[in-house]
Amino acid sequence: MATPENKLAFDGGWEYDPAPESTDHVSLKKRYGLFIGGEFTAPQSGRYFDTINPATEEALARVADAGEADVDRAVRAARKAYSERWSRMRPKERGKYIYRIARILQERAREFAAIESLDGGKPIRESRDVDIPLAAAHFFYYAGWADKLDYAFPGRRARPLGVAGQVIPWNFPLLMAAWKIAPALACGNTVVLKPAETTPLTALKLAEVIADADLPPGVVNIVTGAGKTGAAIVEHKGVNKIAFTGSTQVGRLIMRALAGTPKKYTLELGGKAANIIFADAAIDQAVEGIVNGIFFNQGHVCCAGSRLLVQESVADEVIEKLKDRMQTLIVGDPLDKNTDIGAINSRMQLDKIASYLKVGEQEGGAMFQTACRLPKKGYWCPPTIFTGVAQSNRVVQEEIFGPVLAIQTFRDFDEALAKANNTPYGLSGGVWTDKGAKIFRMTSGIRAGVIWANTFNKFDPTAPFGGYKESGVGREGGLHGLDAYVDLGAR
Ligand code: NAI
Ligand code: MG
Repeated sequence: MATPENKLAFDGGWEYDPAPESTDHVSLKKRYGLFIGGEFTAPQSGRYFDTINPATEEALARVADAGEADVDRAVRAARKAYSERWSRMRPKERGKYIYRIARILQERAREFAAIESLDGGKPIRESRDVDIPLAAAHFFYYAGWADKLDYAFPGRRARPLGVAGQVIPWNFPLLMAAWKIAPALACGNTVVLKPAETTPLTALKLAEVIADADLPPGVVNIVTGAGKTGAAIVEHKGVNKIAFTGSTQVGRLIMRALAGTPKKYTLELGGKAANIIFADAAIDQAVEGIVNGIFFNQGHVCCAGSRLLVQESVADEVIEKLKDRMQTLIVGDPLDKNTDIGAINSRMQLDKIASYLKVGEQEGGAMFQTACRLPKKGYWCPPTIFTGVAQSNRVVQEEIFGPVLAIQTFRDFDEALAKANNTPYGLSGGVWTDKGAKIFRMTSGIRAGVIWANTFNKFDPTAPFGGYKESGVGREGGLHGLDAYVDLGAR
């Protein structure tokens, strides 16, 4: 896949020979229907849309655009499977099905990784080493809980909720599907899931896995479409629980739609996390952590370290080293194993990032980008930093969701903590220091769901994840993630 124009050289960097992941093991249909009641069916809406490869702008497949009647069909299939099979099944048996999904995903990991990179633009190294293994790990982890809910909630009786409607974004397509489906099934619920319109393919491939794992028809239904389809799931009266990951803006709409209904919900929304570097930190490791925190997955990460707070006495050194490291990052063909930064997920997202770069400059920030040649086709953004920005600047306050880092300095602990918390968001944070006491003070002071110390962007199925403030409601992952899918009744 690496064409000469995809292969990038940059001043002062190295030239690598292309090392493309082969795609001959990838099997994609030209057209996908909706996975309802255990089989792929044509949408009653009659509509289809293209999903494209953001690195080449070529269409990969046509995908159904589910209308309200289609969503209704999916919810009814889920209800039937819930009442007749899944909620009645012995928990241990349910666990076996979930283990089976996990094992098949592992077996087909190479294919899933390639499709994730083709459809969404993320580097193959990430989809291969992060997205797909973590998705399988989530199924393994929650499979284990299926027959142990009594231990998760001692003295309580955990009953399933019914049908879970799940709407997920494009930044970690299969992983978000796993985060949502695995705990729902383990607790005895059935599912209607909608992947994002720019990245539907791994969810549709997951539907194939679910069919191969012989799950009773209707236990998992996958419907594709855009915001309207998502809204139809949220508003459907037959749905008992909504799980959403995406923008704060849509999260607000969903909260409004659910107010006054008995539906339970979890919302995982935006973020504007600060990575805080103290002078006593191991600077080289911290720089690597910053790079991982914001350039990982093109900055399409809700918990990205999109702000850097660096102690004044080491600011020059850190910024110098960061710029040097940025020069070595390879932007280009997502399927190339050398690529560090792949394609921006969609033209819309690229336009949004580009508009923030303008805003940042208008606000008086100094922008630095690496001098890389970008391919002519596809959506690309070189790694970018802003220095000389103020707390009130939009590039410091708002979620950009691209490889763009806003850098500020601080003098002492209190100033760092105040700046870190000066944001409407509260999803994550990072602290870099040699002193354990400072780590403890900082992690208890930052109002955010996950805080990494001397590392960043590490995920594990056993760890709960979720936000404070405008970053969301509820927790996913770990024991806490089960809570969102059960009714514990009265004590
Ligand atoms: P979005 O929130 O519109 O999309 C997320 C999912 O929600 C998609 O499946 C979409 O089809 C669905 N959706 C859209 N409107 C809906 C509605 N009214 N009711 C129910 N479902 C609906 O996010 P979008 O527009 O793709 O990205 C915009 C911004 O959101 C990004 O620039 C980024 O800042 C943020 N974002 C945050 C994510 C996170 O993981 N927290 C993931 C994706 C985007
Ligand atoms: Mg796509």
